[in-house]
Amino acid sequence: MHQGQGERRADKINKMAEAKDTPIIEATDIWKSFDSGGTLFNALRGITLRIAKGELVAIMGASGSGKSTFMNILGCLDRPSKGKYFFNGTDTTLKNNNELALMRRNNFGFVFQSYNLLPRTSTYENVELPLLYQGLKFGRAKRREMVLTALKQVGLEDKMSNKTNQLSGGQQQRVAIARALVNNPILIFADEPTGNLDTRTSFEIMTILQNLNAQGTTIVLVTHENDIADFAKRKVVFRDGKIISDIASVNVKDAAEELHKLPVQEDINVIP
Ligand SMILES: Nc1ncnc2c1ncn2[C@@H]1O[C@H](COP(=O)(O)OP(=O)(O)OP(=O)(O)O)[C@@H](O)[C@H]1O
Ligand SMILES: [Mg+2]
Repeated sequence: MHQGQGERRADKINKMAEAKDTPIIEATDIWKSFDSGGTLFNALRGITLRIAKGELVAIMGASGSGKSTFMNILGCLDRPSKGKYFFNGTDTTLKNNNELALMRRNNFGFVFQSYNLLPRTSTYENVELPLLYQGLKFGRAKRREMVLTALKQVGLEDKMSNKTNQLSGGQQQRVAIARALVNNPILIFADEPTGNLDTRTSFEIMTILQNLNAQGTTIVLVTHENDIADFAKRKVVFRDGKIISDIASVNVKDAAEELHKLPVQEDINVIP
């Protein structure tokens, strides 16, 4: 029997709705074992987690609980020993290493605690790097436009020519965020992005991440600190390689507002 035009359209709309509802991350029963001197150590022991598009999720838990191990699997930097991981409906376990590299390049931005910038290289060149990895995809003028847009988003246009070792910790982390977002990723993984920073600078970084999230970027953030996790819409807590709680936040704090509330720093350099 043939479908009428109306039915076909309804089918199409249903399919589109399905695609929209596909979780961006769907990890099921993920295990990760490491060889530790002849015996196997299970760093992840059956993690199941779904993340929808547009979420800002904080992953918390004690040191050694498996947060970075899990994040590396979600970012396709590592593979699970067992379990399934679908990214945006694609089964990552069926992909070879080259395909995973392509997937990372086209979809993910990474921010780490230790910035991982190239030293003695300018802010501009650090942010341009992911675009150069894409070969001839972007011409010089297009690259410049993309780098400047990313630097503007983190408020660092004026430090474009400075070498990264001439920047403060917070500025270096902002360069790392600009580098992560220059490709317009749909998902940013941030592993302890504020771990090395003071409160004020941490809140500035969280303001940038919340703004990106408000523009539609999904963000997975690993943090030890409760006051940083308070800026996330959802908190997932790990213990010994398992999830022990997963709670949507009722009162998500606004980083820009919290930044405003911080006491004004005395300017110790003012000469009377
Ligand atoms: N390559 C590896 N080989 C062996 N063991 C590893 C490896 N990577 C991680 N582990 C172990 O897996 C466990 C989880 O490590 P992971 O780095 O995921 O912890 P974490 O929750 O990110 O901790 P932290 O808060 O300190 O960053 C730890 O016991 C760690 O020693
Ligand atoms: Mg870690």
